[in-house]
Amino acid sequence: MKLKTIYLCKTCQYETPKWLGRCPECQAWDSFIEDVVNVGKPENEGKKPAARIQRNLPTTKPALLTSFANPKARISTKMSELDLLLGGGIVEGSLTLLSGEPGIGKSTITLQICGNLATQNKHVLYLSGEESVEQLSLRAHRLGITSENIHIHTENNLENILSNIEEQKPDFVVVDSIQVLSSDEMSGAAGSVNQVRFCTEALMHAAKLWNRPILLIGHVTKEGTLAGPRTLEHLVDTVLYIEGDRYHDLRMLRSTKNRFGSTNEVAVFEMKEKGLKEVTNPSELFLNGRIENAIGSCLTATIEGTRPFIIEIQALTSLTNFGYPKRSTNGFDANRLQMIIAVLQEHGHINLTNQDVYVNIVGGMNIEEPAADLAVALAIASSYKKKPLPPSTIAIGEMGLSGEIRNITQAEKREKEAKKLGFTQIISPKNYTKIEKAIQALVK
Ligand code: TYD
Ligand code: MG
Repeated sequence: MKLKTIYLCKTCQYETPKWLGRCPECQAWDSFIEDVVNVGKPENEGKKPAARIQRNLPTTKPALLTSFANPKARISTKMSELDLLLGGGIVEGSLTLLSGEPGIGKSTITLQICGNLATQNKHVLYLSGEESVEQLSLRAHRLGITSENIHIHTENNLENILSNIEEQKPDFVVVDSIQVLSSDEMSGAAGSVNQVRFCTEALMHAAKLWNRPILLIGHVTKEGTLAGPRTLEHLVDTVLYIEGDRYHDLRMLRSTKNRFGSTNEVAVFEMKEKGLKEVTNPSELFLNGRIENAIGSCLTATIEGTRPFIIEIQALTSLTNFGYPKRSTNGFDANRLQMIIAVLQEHGHINLTNQDVYVNIVGGMNIEEPAADLAVALAIASSYKKKPLPPSTIAIGEMGLSGEIRNITQAEKREKEAKKLGFTQIISPKNYTKIEKAIQALVK
Protein backbone atom coordinates (compact mmCIF):
# COMPACT_ATOMS: atom_id res chain seq x y z
CA MET A 1 0.00 0.00 0.00
CA LYS A 2 1.35 3.43 -0.93
CA LEU A 3 -0.10 6.38 0.95
CA LYS A 4 -0.17 10.01 -0.06
CA THR A 5 -1.39 13.08 1.77
CA ILE A 6 -3.83 15.27 -0.10
CA TYR A 7 -6.03 18.22 0.78
CA LEU A 8 -9.74 18.16 0.02
CA CYS A 9 -12.15 21.08 -0.11
CA LYS A 10 -15.04 20.36 2.26
CA THR A 11 -17.54 22.16 0.08
CA CYS A 12 -16.73 21.02 -3.43
CA GLN A 13 -14.30 18.12 -3.00
CA TYR A 14 -11.55 19.91 -4.98
CA GLU A 15 -8.31 18.07 -4.47
CA THR A 16 -4.83 19.58 -4.15
CA PRO A 17 -1.45 18.27 -2.97
CA LYS A 18 -0.86 21.42 -0.90
CA TRP A 19 -2.99 23.21 1.67
CA LEU A 20 -4.68 26.33 0.31
CA GLY A 21 -6.37 29.16 2.15
CA ARG A 22 -9.02 29.53 -0.50
CA CYS A 23 -10.50 27.00 -2.87
CA PRO A 24 -9.79 27.92 -6.51
CA GLU A 25 -12.88 25.96 -7.55
CA CYS A 26 -15.67 27.21 -5.29
CA GLN A 27 -13.91 30.20 -3.69
CA ALA A 28 -14.63 29.01 -0.14
CA TRP A 29 -12.19 30.21 2.51
CA ASP A 30 -10.42 27.88 4.94
CA SER A 31 -12.19 24.85 3.56
CA PHE A 32 -9.32 22.40 3.05
CA ILE A 33 -8.91 19.36 5.22
CA GLU A 34 -6.09 16.89 5.22
CA ASP A 35 -6.73 13.38 4.02
CA VAL A 36 -4.71 10.32 3.18
CA VAL A 37 -5.32 8.29 0.05
CA ASN A 38 -3.96 5.05 -1.19
CA VAL A 39 -2.20 5.48 -4.52
CA GLY A 40 -0.96 1.87 -4.64
CA LYS A 41 -3.05 -1.20 -5.41
CA PRO A 42 -5.57 -2.14 -2.73
CA GLU A 43 -4.25 -5.04 -0.66
CA ASN A 44 -7.23 -7.29 -0.67
CA GLU A 45 -8.75 -6.61 -4.00
CA GLY A 46 -11.57 -8.94 -4.97
CA LYS A 47 -12.96 -9.29 -1.44
CA LYS A 48 -14.71 -5.97 -1.37
CA PRO A 49 -18.04 -6.33 0.39
CA ALA A 50 -19.23 -3.01 -0.90
CA ALA A 51 -18.35 -4.00 -4.43
CA ARG A 52 -19.88 -7.42 -3.82
CA ILE A 53 -23.09 -5.79 -2.66
CA GLN A 54 -23.02 -3.55 -5.67
CA ARG A 55 -22.63 -6.55 -7.95
CA ASN A 56 -25.46 -8.34 -6.21
CA LEU A 57 -27.85 -5.50 -6.75
CA PRO A 58 -30.46 -6.75 -9.18
CA THR A 59 -29.86 -5.39 -12.65
CA THR A 60 -32.80 -3.19 -13.39
CA LYS A 61 -34.75 -2.67 -16.55
CA PRO A 62 -36.67 0.47 -17.38
CA ALA A 63 -40.05 0.33 -15.68
CA LEU A 64 -43.21 2.33 -15.95
CA LEU A 65 -43.13 5.39 -13.75
CA THR A 66 -46.60 4.54 -12.48
CA SER A 67 -45.89 0.89 -11.83
CA PHE A 68 -45.10 1.37 -8.14
CA ALA A 69 -48.37 2.88 -7.10
CA ASN A 70 -48.17 1.49 -3.57
CA PRO A 71 -45.83 3.49 -1.42
CA LYS A 72 -43.13 1.69 0.51
CA ALA A 73 -44.08 0.33 3.90
CA ARG A 74 -43.31 2.56 6.84
CA ILE A 75 -42.56 1.74 10.43
CA SER A 76 -43.92 4.07 13.08
CA THR A 77 -41.44 5.38 15.65
CA LYS A 78 -44.34 5.85 18.09
CA MET A 79 -43.28 9.48 18.39
CA SER A 80 -45.93 11.35 16.47
CA GLU A 81 -43.80 14.45 15.88
CA LEU A 82 -40.91 12.41 14.56
CA ASP A 83 -43.19 10.33 12.33
CA LEU A 84 -44.56 13.55 10.90
CA LEU A 85 -41.05 14.83 10.26
CA LEU A 86 -40.14 11.65 8.42
CA GLY A 87 -43.29 11.89 6.32
CA GLY A 88 -45.15 9.08 8.09
CA GLY A 89 -42.52 6.88 9.70
CA ILE A 90 -39.30 5.10 8.80
CA VAL A 91 -39.26 3.86 5.21
CA GLU A 92 -38.09 0.31 4.57
CA GLY A 93 -34.71 0.10 2.91
CA SER A 94 -33.89 3.74 3.57
CA LEU A 95 -30.68 5.22 4.87
CA THR A 96 -31.18 8.10 7.28
CA LEU A 97 -28.41 10.30 8.59
CA LEU A 98 -28.95 11.79 12.04
CA SER A 99 -26.46 14.57 12.56
CA GLY A 100 -25.77 17.09 15.27
CA GLU A 101 -23.14 18.35 17.68
CA PRO A 102 -21.58 15.90 20.10
CA GLY A 103 -23.58 15.50 23.31
CA ILE A 104 -26.78 16.96 21.88
CA GLY A 105 -28.78 13.74 22.27
CA LYS A 106 -28.35 11.72 19.07
CA SER A 107 -27.65 8.41 20.79
CA THR A 108 -30.41 9.09 23.30
CA ILE A 109 -33.17 9.69 20.77
CA THR A 110 -31.93 6.78 18.66
CA LEU A 111 -32.10 4.41 21.59
CA GLN A 112 -35.61 5.64 22.33
CA ILE A 113 -36.63 4.96 18.72
CA CYS A 114 -35.12 1.48 19.05
CA GLY A 115 -37.13 0.92 22.24
CA ASN A 116 -40.35 1.97 20.53
CA LEU A 117 -39.70 -0.27 17.53
CA ALA A 118 -38.84 -3.20 19.77
CA THR A 119 -42.20 -2.97 21.52
CA GLN A 120 -43.79 -3.41 18.08
CA ASN A 121 -41.95 -6.70 17.78
CA LYS A 122 -39.32 -5.33 15.46
CA HIS A 123 -35.88 -6.82 15.71
CA VAL A 124 -33.32 -4.02 16.21
CA LEU A 125 -29.56 -4.17 15.80
CA TYR A 126 -27.61 -1.33 17.45
CA LEU A 127 -24.00 -1.17 16.32
CA SER A 128 -21.99 1.20 18.41
CA GLY A 129 -18.36 2.06 17.89
CA GLU A 130 -18.51 4.83 20.45
CA GLU A 131 -19.89 3.36 23.65
CA SER A 132 -19.39 0.05 25.41
CA VAL A 133 -22.17 -2.49 25.85
CA GLU A 134 -22.33 -1.59 29.56
CA GLN A 135 -22.77 2.11 28.84
CA LEU A 136 -25.51 1.38 26.35
CA SER A 137 -27.31 -1.00 28.71
CA LEU A 138 -27.16 1.55 31.52
CA ARG A 139 -28.61 4.21 29.27
CA ALA A 140 -31.34 1.87 28.02
CA HIS A 141 -32.20 1.09 31.64
CA ARG A 142 -32.39 4.79 32.42
CA LEU A 143 -34.69 5.31 29.44
CA GLY A 144 -36.92 2.48 30.64
CA ILE A 145 -36.24 0.19 27.68
CA THR A 146 -36.81 -3.41 28.67
CA SER A 147 -37.65 -5.17 25.41
CA GLU A 148 -35.70 -8.29 24.43
CA ASN A 149 -35.76 -7.39 20.76
CA ILE A 150 -32.71 -5.13 20.74
CA HIS A 151 -29.25 -6.52 20.12
CA ILE A 152 -26.24 -4.32 20.76
CA HIS A 153 -22.79 -4.83 19.44
CA THR A 154 -19.68 -2.69 19.75
CA GLU A 155 -18.23 -2.70 16.30
CA ASN A 156 -16.55 -0.18 14.05
CA ASN A 157 -15.38 -2.27 11.16
CA LEU A 158 -17.55 -1.92 8.07
CA GLU A 159 -17.04 -5.49 6.88
CA ASN A 160 -18.08 -6.92 10.26
CA ILE A 161 -21.06 -4.62 10.41
CA LEU A 162 -22.24 -5.75 7.00
CA SER A 163 -21.92 -9.42 7.87
CA ASN A 164 -23.74 -8.74 11.15
CA ILE A 165 -26.67 -7.26 9.26
CA GLU A 166 -26.62 -10.06 6.71
CA GLU A 167 -26.68 -12.73 9.42
CA GLN A 168 -29.12 -11.23 11.87
CA LYS A 169 -31.58 -9.79 9.36
CA PRO A 170 -32.80 -7.05 11.71
CA ASP A 171 -35.84 -4.89 10.94
CA PHE A 172 -33.93 -1.76 11.91
CA VAL A 173 -30.21 -1.06 12.06
CA VAL A 174 -28.39 1.73 13.90
CA VAL A 175 -24.77 2.61 13.20
CA ASP A 176 -23.32 4.94 15.86
CA SER A 177 -21.37 6.70 14.45
CA ILE A 178 -19.99 7.18 10.93
CA GLN A 179 -16.89 8.94 12.30
CA VAL A 180 -15.56 5.83 14.01
CA LEU A 181 -16.35 3.50 11.12
CA SER A 182 -13.62 2.22 8.85
CA SER A 183 -13.28 -0.28 6.07
CA ASP A 184 -10.31 -2.57 5.45
CA GLU A 185 -10.46 -1.66 1.81
CA MET A 186 -9.93 2.03 2.25
CA SER A 187 -6.84 3.83 3.34
CA GLY A 188 -6.98 6.60 5.86
CA ALA A 189 -8.06 6.74 9.46
CA ALA A 190 -11.66 6.42 10.59
CA GLY A 191 -13.39 9.76 10.11
CA SER A 192 -11.40 10.78 7.03
CA VAL A 193 -13.35 11.88 3.98
CA ASN A 194 -12.44 8.68 2.13
CA GLN A 195 -13.58 6.36 4.87
CA VAL A 196 -16.74 8.30 5.61
CA ARG A 197 -17.81 8.34 1.98
CA PHE A 198 -16.90 4.76 1.29
CA CYS A 199 -18.65 3.41 4.39
CA THR A 200 -21.78 5.47 3.76
CA GLU A 201 -22.01 4.26 0.18
CA ALA A 202 -21.65 0.66 1.32
CA LEU A 203 -24.37 1.11 3.95
CA MET A 204 -26.64 2.69 1.36
CA HIS A 205 -26.20 -0.34 -0.90
CA ALA A 206 -26.80 -2.66 2.02
CA ALA A 207 -30.01 -0.87 2.99
CA LYS A 208 -31.32 -1.11 -0.56
CA LEU A 209 -30.13 -4.65 -1.24
CA TRP A 210 -31.55 -6.17 1.93
CA ASN A 211 -34.45 -3.73 2.18
CA ARG A 212 -33.64 -2.83 5.79
CA PRO A 213 -33.80 0.70 7.15
CA ILE A 214 -30.50 1.96 8.52
CA LEU A 215 -30.03 4.96 10.78
CA LEU A 216 -26.56 6.42 10.63
CA ILE A 217 -25.35 8.84 13.28
CA GLY A 218 -22.84 11.57 12.42
CA HIS A 219 -21.28 14.37 14.46
CA VAL A 220 -20.94 17.87 13.18
CA THR A 221 -19.52 20.90 14.90
CA LYS A 222 -21.19 24.30 14.95
CA GLU A 223 -19.44 25.35 11.77
CA GLY A 224 -20.38 22.09 10.08
CA THR A 225 -16.72 21.15 9.86
CA LEU A 226 -15.21 17.73 10.56
CA ALA A 227 -14.94 15.31 7.72
CA GLY A 228 -18.29 13.77 7.35
CA PRO A 229 -21.95 14.71 7.49
CA ARG A 230 -21.78 17.73 5.20
CA THR A 231 -19.91 15.84 2.50
CA LEU A 232 -22.23 12.85 2.61
CA GLU A 233 -25.62 14.51 2.69
CA HIS A 234 -26.17 13.71 -0.95
CA LEU A 235 -25.33 10.05 -0.44
CA VAL A 236 -28.24 9.30 1.90
CA ASP A 237 -32.04 9.33 1.58
CA THR A 238 -32.88 11.50 4.54
CA VAL A 239 -30.88 13.91 6.66
CA LEU A 240 -32.15 14.75 10.13
CA TYR A 241 -30.43 17.45 12.08
CA ILE A 242 -30.81 17.79 15.81
CA GLU A 243 -29.99 21.14 17.29
CA GLY A 244 -30.31 22.98 20.54
CA ASP A 245 -28.37 24.66 23.23
CA ARG A 246 -26.56 22.25 25.50
CA TYR A 247 -27.44 24.40 28.48
CA HIS A 248 -31.14 24.37 27.71
CA ASP A 249 -33.58 21.47 27.53
CA LEU A 250 -34.93 22.42 24.12
CA ARG A 251 -34.01 20.23 21.16
CA MET A 252 -35.26 20.73 17.63
CA LEU A 253 -35.18 18.06 15.03
CA ARG A 254 -35.35 19.15 11.39
CA SER A 255 -35.04 17.32 8.16
CA THR A 256 -32.75 19.13 5.75
CA LYS A 257 -33.28 16.49 3.10
CA ASN A 258 -36.02 13.91 2.75
CA ARG A 259 -36.60 11.70 -0.24
CA PHE A 260 -39.81 10.44 1.35
CA GLY A 261 -41.44 13.56 2.73
CA SER A 262 -41.31 17.31 3.07
CA THR A 263 -38.44 19.24 4.60
CA ASN A 264 -40.63 21.91 6.10
CA GLU A 265 -41.36 20.35 9.44
CA VAL A 266 -39.64 20.59 12.78
CA ALA A 267 -40.17 18.35 15.77
CA VAL A 268 -39.62 19.86 19.20
CA PHE A 269 -38.28 17.85 22.12
CA GLU A 270 -37.29 18.49 25.69
CA MET A 271 -34.31 16.73 27.24
CA LYS A 272 -35.50 15.18 30.48
CA GLU A 273 -34.03 12.78 32.99
CA LYS A 274 -35.62 9.92 31.11
CA GLY A 275 -34.54 10.99 27.65
CA LEU A 276 -36.15 13.22 25.07
CA LYS A 277 -39.80 14.01 25.44
CA GLU A 278 -41.94 15.29 22.60
CA VAL A 279 -43.35 18.77 23.03
CA THR A 280 -46.69 19.09 21.32
CA ASN A 281 -47.26 22.69 22.34
CA PRO A 282 -43.87 24.42 22.12
CA SER A 283 -45.18 27.95 22.74
CA GLU A 284 -46.22 26.98 26.25
CA LEU A 285 -42.74 25.67 26.91
CA PHE A 286 -41.16 28.93 25.75
CA LEU A 287 -43.45 31.04 27.89
CA ASN A 288 -42.93 28.98 31.00
CA GLY A 289 -41.68 31.13 33.88
CA ARG A 290 -42.38 34.42 32.16
CA ILE A 291 -43.05 37.43 34.39
CA GLU A 292 -46.11 39.41 33.30
CA ASN A 293 -45.53 43.10 32.76
CA ALA A 294 -41.77 42.80 32.98
CA ILE A 295 -39.73 45.75 31.78
CA GLY A 296 -37.71 45.06 28.62
CA SER A 297 -39.76 42.07 27.57
CA CYS A 298 -41.82 41.63 24.41
CA LEU A 299 -43.41 38.61 22.80
CA THR A 300 -43.30 37.70 19.16
CA ALA A 301 -44.44 34.88 16.90
CA THR A 302 -41.79 33.22 14.83
CA ILE A 303 -42.21 30.51 12.21
CA GLU A 304 -40.07 27.40 12.18
CA GLY A 305 -40.76 25.16 9.23
CA THR A 306 -44.48 25.54 8.87
CA ARG A 307 -45.21 26.11 12.52
CA PRO A 308 -45.67 29.27 14.54
CA PHE A 309 -44.05 29.60 17.97
CA ILE A 310 -44.65 32.30 20.52
CA ILE A 311 -41.43 33.34 22.18
CA GLU A 312 -40.26 36.00 24.58
CA ILE A 313 -37.59 38.53 23.70
CA GLN A 314 -35.78 40.29 26.51
CA ALA A 315 -33.69 43.42 26.24
CA LEU A 316 -31.63 45.31 28.73
CA THR A 317 -30.09 48.73 28.31
CA SER A 318 -27.62 50.04 30.85
CA LEU A 319 -25.33 53.02 31.00
CA THR A 320 -21.93 52.35 29.43
CA ASN A 321 -19.27 52.59 32.09
CA PHE A 322 -16.20 52.53 29.98
CA GLY A 323 -15.29 52.93 26.34
CA TYR A 324 -17.55 51.92 23.51
CA PRO A 325 -21.13 50.88 24.26
CA LYS A 326 -21.52 47.14 24.19
CA ARG A 327 -24.07 45.28 22.06
CA SER A 328 -24.55 41.66 22.90
CA THR A 329 -27.08 39.08 21.71
CA ASN A 330 -28.09 35.56 22.53
CA GLY A 331 -30.11 33.77 19.86
CA PHE A 332 -30.39 36.86 17.66
CA ASP A 333 -28.20 38.17 14.86
CA ALA A 334 -25.75 40.79 16.16
CA ASN A 335 -25.70 42.77 12.91
CA ARG A 336 -29.46 42.92 12.88
CA LEU A 337 -29.38 44.30 16.41
CA GLN A 338 -26.95 47.04 15.31
CA MET A 339 -29.40 47.99 12.57
CA ILE A 340 -32.37 48.07 14.93
CA ILE A 341 -30.42 50.25 17.36
CA ALA A 342 -29.56 52.69 14.56
CA VAL A 343 -33.21 52.86 13.48
CA LEU A 344 -34.31 53.45 17.09
CA GLN A 345 -31.82 56.31 17.39
CA GLU A 346 -32.73 57.97 14.12
CA HIS A 347 -36.48 57.37 14.03
CA GLY A 348 -37.56 56.36 17.51
CA HIS A 349 -36.03 59.15 19.61
CA ILE A 350 -34.14 56.70 21.77
CA ASN A 351 -30.57 57.70 22.39
CA LEU A 352 -28.45 54.60 22.84
CA THR A 353 -25.02 56.13 22.19
CA ASN A 354 -24.04 55.76 25.82
CA GLN A 355 -26.03 52.60 26.52
CA ASP A 356 -24.96 48.96 26.51
CA VAL A 357 -27.67 46.86 24.86
CA TYR A 358 -28.27 43.19 25.55
CA VAL A 359 -30.85 41.05 23.73
CA ASN A 360 -31.82 37.55 24.77
CA ILE A 361 -34.19 35.07 23.13
CA VAL A 362 -35.64 33.11 26.01
CA GLY A 363 -35.59 29.32 25.87
CA GLY A 364 -32.48 28.75 23.77
CA MET A 365 -34.02 29.34 20.40
CA ASN A 366 -32.22 31.03 17.52
CA ILE A 367 -34.17 33.55 15.47
CA GLU A 368 -33.05 34.33 11.97
CA GLU A 369 -36.13 35.81 10.36
CA PRO A 370 -36.80 39.57 10.37
CA ALA A 371 -40.33 39.16 11.79
CA ALA A 372 -38.90 39.57 15.29
CA ASP A 373 -37.40 43.04 14.58
CA LEU A 374 -40.36 44.93 15.97
CA ALA A 375 -40.43 42.92 19.18
CA VAL A 376 -36.69 43.48 19.67
CA ALA A 377 -37.13 47.23 19.11
CA LEU A 378 -40.05 47.44 21.54
CA ALA A 379 -38.20 45.42 24.18
CA ILE A 380 -35.23 47.80 23.92
CA ALA A 381 -37.53 50.84 24.11
CA SER A 382 -39.28 49.35 27.13
CA SER A 383 -36.01 48.77 28.96
CA TYR A 384 -34.67 52.19 28.06
CA LYS A 385 -37.79 53.97 29.26
CA LYS A 386 -38.19 51.61 32.23
CA LYS A 387 -41.84 51.02 31.36
CA PRO A 388 -43.45 47.66 30.58
CA LEU A 389 -45.46 47.07 27.43
CA PRO A 390 -49.23 46.66 27.89
CA PRO A 391 -50.19 43.15 29.06
CA SER A 392 -51.04 40.47 26.46
CA THR A 393 -49.09 42.34 23.79
CA ILE A 394 -47.34 40.57 21.00
CA ALA A 395 -45.37 42.27 18.22
CA ILE A 396 -44.87 40.95 14.71
CA GLY A 397 -43.15 42.97 12.02
CA GLU A 398 -39.98 43.70 10.13
CA MET A 399 -38.27 47.07 10.52
CA GLY A 400 -37.16 49.18 7.61
CA LEU A 401 -34.31 51.68 7.65
CA SER A 402 -36.65 54.64 7.53
CA GLY A 403 -38.37 53.55 10.69
CA GLU A 404 -41.28 51.90 8.94
CA ILE A 405 -42.85 48.67 10.17
CA ARG A 406 -43.22 46.23 7.33
CA ASN A 407 -45.37 43.25 6.56
CA ILE A 408 -44.04 39.77 7.10
CA THR A 409 -44.91 36.38 5.66
CA GLN A 410 -47.55 34.05 7.09
CA ALA A 411 -49.00 36.77 9.31
CA GLU A 412 -52.37 35.01 9.73
CA LYS A 413 -50.74 31.88 11.04
CA ARG A 414 -48.79 33.83 13.63
CA GLU A 415 -51.81 35.82 14.73
CA LYS A 416 -53.86 32.67 15.08
CA GLU A 417 -51.27 31.09 17.37
CA ALA A 418 -51.09 34.30 19.44
CA LYS A 419 -54.84 34.43 19.90
CA LYS A 420 -54.94 30.75 20.78
CA LEU A 421 -52.66 31.47 23.71
CA GLY A 422 -54.66 34.50 24.83
CA PHE A 423 -52.51 37.33 23.45
CA THR A 424 -55.11 39.66 22.10
CA GLN A 425 -53.21 42.86 21.44
CA ILE A 426 -51.29 42.19 18.26
CA ILE A 427 -48.91 44.95 17.17
CA SER A 428 -48.20 44.74 13.46
CA PRO A 429 -48.10 47.01 10.37
CA LYS A 430 -51.91 46.78 10.45
CA ASN A 431 -52.10 49.12 13.45
CA TYR A 432 -48.73 50.93 13.38
CA THR A 433 -46.71 51.75 10.31
CA LYS A 434 -43.97 53.78 12.03
CA ILE A 435 -41.78 52.64 14.90
CA GLU A 436 -41.99 56.13 16.42
CA LYS A 437 -45.78 55.92 16.71
CA ALA A 438 -45.68 52.41 18.15
CA ILE A 439 -43.22 53.45 20.87
CA GLN A 440 -45.23 56.55 21.70
CA ALA A 441 -48.43 54.55 22.07
CA LEU A 442 -47.09 51.46 23.82
CA VAL A 443 -44.18 52.51 26.00
CA LYS A 444 -45.44 55.31 28.16
P1 TYD B 1 -26.08 11.67 23.84
O1 TYD B 1 -27.30 11.03 23.30
O2 TYD B 1 -25.03 10.78 24.38
O3 TYD B 1 -25.42 12.65 22.79
P2 TYD B 1 -24.75 12.33 21.38
O4 TYD B 1 -25.00 10.91 21.06
O5 TYD B 1 -25.43 13.29 20.46
O6 TYD B 1 -23.31 12.66 21.52
O7 TYD B 1 -26.60 12.70 24.93
C1 TYD B 1 -25.81 13.06 25.97
C2 TYD B 1 -26.44 14.11 26.84
O8 TYD B 1 -27.81 13.92 27.11
C3 TYD B 1 -25.73 14.05 28.15
O9 TYD B 1 -25.12 15.30 28.36
C4 TYD B 1 -26.76 13.79 29.16
C5 TYD B 1 -28.06 14.04 28.49
N1 TYD B 1 -29.12 13.08 28.87
C6 TYD B 1 -30.20 13.49 29.61
O10 TYD B 1 -30.30 14.66 30.00
N2 TYD B 1 -31.20 12.60 29.93
C7 TYD B 1 -31.13 11.30 29.54
O11 TYD B 1 -32.06 10.51 29.85
C8 TYD B 1 -30.00 10.87 28.78
C9 TYD B 1 -29.87 9.44 28.34
C10 TYD B 1 -29.03 11.79 28.46
MG1 MG C 1 -23.54 9.36 20.99
